[in-house]
Amino acid sequence: MIDYKEKIAEILKDKVSQLESKEILEMIEVPPDPQMGDYAFPCFRLAKILRKAPPMIAKEIAEEIHSDLFKKVESTNAYVNFFMNKTLFIEDVLKEVYEKKEDFGKTNIGKGRKVIVEFSSVNIAKPFHIGHIRSTVIGSAINNIYKFLGFDTVSINHLGDYGTQFGKLIVAYKLWGDKETIENNPIPELLRIYVKFHEVAEEKPELEDEARAWFLKLENNDEEAVQLWKWFRDISLKEFARVYKMLGIEFDSYAGESFYSDKMPKVLTRMREKGVMKESDGAEIVDLESFGMPPALITKKDGSSLYITRDLAAAIYRKDHYNFYKNIYVVGSQQNLHFQQWRKIIELMGYDWSDDCIHVPFGMVSLEEGTMSTRKGRIVFLEDVLKKAVDQTKDIIMEKNVNADLVEEIARQVGIGAVVFQELSNNRIKDYAFSLEKTLSFEGETGPYVQYTHARASSILRNADQTLKTDVDYHILSEESAYELCKLIYHFPKVIMEAAEKYEPSVVTRHIIDIAQAFNKFYHDQHILVEDEGTQSARILLAFAAKQVIANGLGLIGIEAPERM
Ligand code: ARG
Repeated sequence: MIDYKEKIAEILKDKVSQLESKEILEMIEVPPDPQMGDYAFPCFRLAKILRKAPPMIAKEIAEEIHSDLFKKVESTNAYVNFFMNKTLFIEDVLKEVYEKKEDFGKTNIGKGRKVIVEFSSVNIAKPFHIGHIRSTVIGSAINNIYKFLGFDTVSINHLGDYGTQFGKLIVAYKLWGDKETIENNPIPELLRIYVKFHEVAEEKPELEDEARAWFLKLENNDEEAVQLWKWFRDISLKEFARVYKMLGIEFDSYAGESFYSDKMPKVLTRMREKGVMKESDGAEIVDLESFGMPPALITKKDGSSLYITRDLAAAIYRKDHYNFYKNIYVVGSQQNLHFQQWRKIIELMGYDWSDDCIHVPFGMVSLEEGTMSTRKGRIVFLEDVLKKAVDQTKDIIMEKNVNADLVEEIARQVGIGAVVFQELSNNRIKDYAFSLEKTLSFEGETGPYVQYTHARASSILRNADQTLKTDVDYHILSEESAYELCKLIYHFPKVIMEAAEKYEPSVVTRHIIDIAQAFNKFYHDQHILVEDEGTQSARILLAFAAKQVIANGLGLIGIEAPERM
């Protein structure tokens, strides 16, 4: 596709050789009022160089430009205004989408550079609850986006499979656990005994000491401790796999916290060598006061490691093992301080790549019933939410009299897609309240609305009596709504770049909502499957492009694009 800004800069470079191409490019604006053209070039800066009044310069430049790309170029005050040759523009855009199809928007700017995206990172033996959905779907979308831009991505699920809580769980299991009951109903049962541990420990604090002792045993490879821990881990992963499968998410690595247990001594040695740590009451800490942060506890009195210690080991391992270009962590904003401390410590350890470690935070999900607490056992399982979404979607589409063979499949695509879409439609940093009802609505800016638009365009293409071709009369697509739709399609590749730079999948989500709305506007105003062959062939090409770009966008945010609904 033609990059119009670049093209304009190229044309202007001939006229104003005093400015660098890059400068010119940065000066080109998009006028707020389309009456003023599609692009504008302000001439104020040139006044000094050319010793002329800006309107005069604008006038002279405008008069000298003759290009097929523009219907007209004229000056208004100090601006040179460019009006696109819309027919040529639409032709260029539609041909590109037709040619590239599912690769439309793809680049290879990331070639040869490794990007690690760590996300989901759930805790084993605990519920995979609605609170985990954000890291899971935001992270997966970021991973898809980077991959689409040609980066060599590695998706990591940094499982919470280590720490004192496993000491607690072992104690609880020994007191109240039953192997068979747990095998049959793993997470709720493990949760039950974990909750019970906390209740009982309120009266019997010595249980906490026992738990610490068991964790230490685990760290020291005690056979019984390791065996129990492994079992908790295996049965948990089997449970989680169902949720990941429903969401269509896969990980390249499940190296969680436990993976780093034998990699910590090296880290501690380096920290001591670099004089980063100091002793405090038998424990070791990093004093971060001069950076405006509380101290970070690195080793406990009994020598056992902490969450942050494992995160330090993980970052160093990832640099050694993957030599990443970026190491991204999609973790809630409650952990902002943790990641600030952690990154500062990496820097203090003398690693020059600390800036390549990026924490991508997001806001909290709340439920109408209030927030959740694992300890108190107030939980909404993500699997249940997804199942409910699928069931309710089934009820909704049954009324719409869809092909019975397809009901299950469509309900799955739409129900799950709706939940994911909802997660990714707002700026990630915002807190929000989850409502299944709003999520499943077919109206408004929802997943079902966008998927339905995709299905509608698919149906038009199925019912067309012509095959798609790009050899059409583009003058037919002269409506403003066709131009608006093509403009959005044209910007799609840039939108993906922006989403990657900001680690913000919602930029893509918003854009496909805009495309769906623009297509529906065109469709509302114009008949596509008209008799006239020439008209039909041009309009179905436009419908095809809208459908393709919606599908590509949905794919990036991890949602299927149904052909029928
Ligand atoms: N398992 C942690 C939790 O549920 C999140 C882990 C985030 N990742 C990390 N590298 N610290 O809170």
